[in-house]
Amino acid sequence: MNSFQLFLSIILFLVAAWYAWRYYDLKKRVDEYAHLARIAPESLPTDLNKIENLSNAVASLKLYFENQLSTLNSENARLSTVLEQLTDGVIIVDANGLIQFANPAAQKLFEISTAPGHSVTEVVRNHQLVDAWRRCQQTNEMQSESVELPARHQFLQLIAIPDTHASGSLLLVQDLTRVRRLETVRRDFISNVSHELRTPLASLKALTETLQSGALSDPEAGPRFLGRISTEVDALTQMAQELLDLSRIESGQVELILAPLAPKGLVTSAADRMRMQAERAGLKLSIKCEDGLPNIRADKSRLEQVLVNLIHNAVKFTKPGGDISLETESVTGGVRFAVRDSGVGIPTESLTRIFERFYRVDKSRTGSGTGLGLSISKHIIEAHGGKIWAESNEGRGSVFYFVIPINS
Ligand SMILES: Nc1ncnc2c1ncn2[C@@H]1O[C@H](COP(=O)(O)OP(=O)(O)OP(=O)(O)O)[C@@H](O)[C@H]1O
Ligand SMILES: [Mg+2]
Repeated sequence: MNSFQLFLSIILFLVAAWYAWRYYDLKKRVDEYAHLARIAPESLPTDLNKIENLSNAVASLKLYFENQLSTLNSENARLSTVLEQLTDGVIIVDANGLIQFANPAAQKLFEISTAPGHSVTEVVRNHQLVDAWRRCQQTNEMQSESVELPARHQFLQLIAIPDTHASGSLLLVQDLTRVRRLETVRRDFISNVSHELRTPLASLKALTETLQSGALSDPEAGPRFLGRISTEVDALTQMAQELLDLSRIESGQVELILAPLAPKGLVTSAADRMRMQAERAGLKLSIKCEDGLPNIRADKSRLEQVLVNLIHNAVKFTKPGGDISLETESVTGGVRFAVRDSGVGIPTESLTRIFERFYRVDKSRTGSGTGLGLSISKHIIEAHGGKIWAESNEGRGSVFYFVIPINS
């Protein structure tokens, strides 16, 4: 080997050694980086000597995935909020009939605290609704079913939609109780109006026919029949007026003249207006007013009309010898008024219905009017931002309460 070859070999050896060292160094750095990525991915350095290209590429990948994750998270949060706030129940059921998810509305509708893990049958507890879900599972087609649950006074509609990805199903549950109730109220209203009109109109027809067939010239019967016609016309006029009032209050056309008002003064003036009627019916009318009550913000004449309506009812539905008491009491944010009687009382199932137009507990009860008084009262109270309700013990008496916010 001459000296040139020796020199070349040394050079080649040095180059090979340099490359080997580079390879070793690079592998060591990549291994360290991979180790770090496994144990602490959140603190991966990006400015590593010699592998900055790789670390930069990993860093931008990481950033990309972080962005994707935060988009997913915010979409998830939005979806959860929607499901939580939804008034309809949403239930996700797997292929085996086990509940995977139920939103709060579904848990409330079926009166359960936790649904996931339970079976549809356990949670839904109604064979018609469970059958609808089964049909959906078997046919893979959407099914819907509506049922009335008398025990819970509820009317529910269930829509079962097949979930083709997970071979389970999605159940949507709607509470149609309110809608149904409104439908009934509307239907009753129409039939009640026609009924209420038919009776006085029929007697007017009969009275005029009697007058036409000779009674007009009878000096005794003539004026008597005319008197009865006048009474029927008055009743019709009053009904028309009440209906008009009601629709004007309902549509917000009646403007309340709100001013600070002392509860005691209001109760006293309503009692003064009704005292004579109560005494004539053999009833004792008393007032129990707390001292130092705050002023309420109210329309005096409208609120007095409510009290008069309530006292009038108490007089009508209490037998002679009974008591009626008017009470006021301070409650949080308002003043609570009560009209208490020792009368015939109201059956529990009618307690919420008596505020409907034309609703009367027992149409054959003597002394009943048209059934509009309480619905007018309810609208007046609600227009004041208040609340009205009744409690009763059948045969023992009733209490009508209403709360009016205090003067702010
Ligand atoms: N204090 C009460 N005691 C027992 N039943 C009552 C009492 N107040 C109301 N009711 C029942 O509620 C029904 C509705 O009352 P509401 O005042 O709306 O109508 P009304 O008194 O029959 O007629 P109107 O007030 O239009 O002349 C009454 O028919 C009655 O059956
Ligand atoms: Mg009444």
